Amino acid sequence: MGKFQVISHPLIQHKLSILRRFDTSTKHFRELVNEIAMLMGYEVSRELPLEEVEIETPITKTVQKQLAGKKLAVVPILRAGIGMVDGLLSLVPAAKVGHIGMYRDEETLEPVEYLVKLPEDIDQRQIFVVDPMLATGGSAVLAIDSLKKRGAANIKFVCLVSAPEGLKRLQEAHPDIDIYTAALDEKLNDKGYIVPGLGDAGDRLFGTK
Ligand code: PRP
Ligand code: URA
Repeated sequence: MGKFQVISHPLIQHKLSILRRFDTSTKHFRELVNEIAMLMGYEVSRELPLEEVEIETPITKTVQKQLAGKKLAVVPILRAGIGMVDGLLSLVPAAKVGHIGMYRDEETLEPVEYLVKLPEDIDQRQIFVVDPMLATGGSAVLAIDSLKKRGAANIKFVCLVSAPEGLKRLQEAHPDIDIYTAALDEKLNDKGYIVPGLGDAGDRLFGTK
C-alpha cells in the first residue's frame, strides 16, 4: 500500500483555514492555493532520490549531491488543479506539465474526461497529479487510470482537502500510489461536496460563480 500523509505544517493549516472561509476573494484564494501547493511540494519531494556528482568549487574539487533518476511531471486535473501548478513549479522549474481535463456530471457525480495532453515520455517520469479536492474520488481514480493506460508507473497524488469516501476509493483503485493531503475532512454531503470543505474549488479559483 502506498503512503497516505496529512501534511500538517502550521503554515499550511493557517493558509488552509483562510482558503476555506466563504468570504475569501478569488484573488486571495488563487494566491493561497499556490502557496499551499508550494509548501506541500517541499514535503512531497522529500524522498526524491539523490546521486553523487563531482563538482569544482572556487577552492577545490568535491563530491556532492544532485537529484537523480526520473524526471518530473506535474499533472493537474482541470480545472481546479491548474491552481496548484505554479506553486510546484517554483520548486521544480524544469518539470514538464501534462493536463487531464475532467468534470463531474452533476447528476451522477461521476467524472467525464474531456482532455488528455501529456509529455511524450510520461512513462519515464515521476508524476505529481494535483487537484485541490478529493471528494468521491471519481476524478482522481479516472485521471490515474488514464495515466497508467499510457504507461505511467510512478505517481503521487497531491490534494488540499480530502473526504474519507474519496480516500478509500482512491486507495482501493490504486493501492500503489502515495497520497498527500493538507486536510482529511469529515464527510461528503448529499451533493458530493466535502464538509466542511471549501466549496467548489474550480469556481472559487476562477471566479465563475
Ligand atoms: C472538482 C475538483 C475535482 C473533483 C473532485 O472538479 O477539482 O476534480 O471536483 O470530485 P470527485 O472526487 O467527486 O471526483 P469539478 O468536477 O467541479 O470540475 P472543475 O474543476 O472544472 O470545476
Ligand atoms: N469538488 C469541489 O470543488 N468541491 C467539493 O467539495 C467536492 C468536489
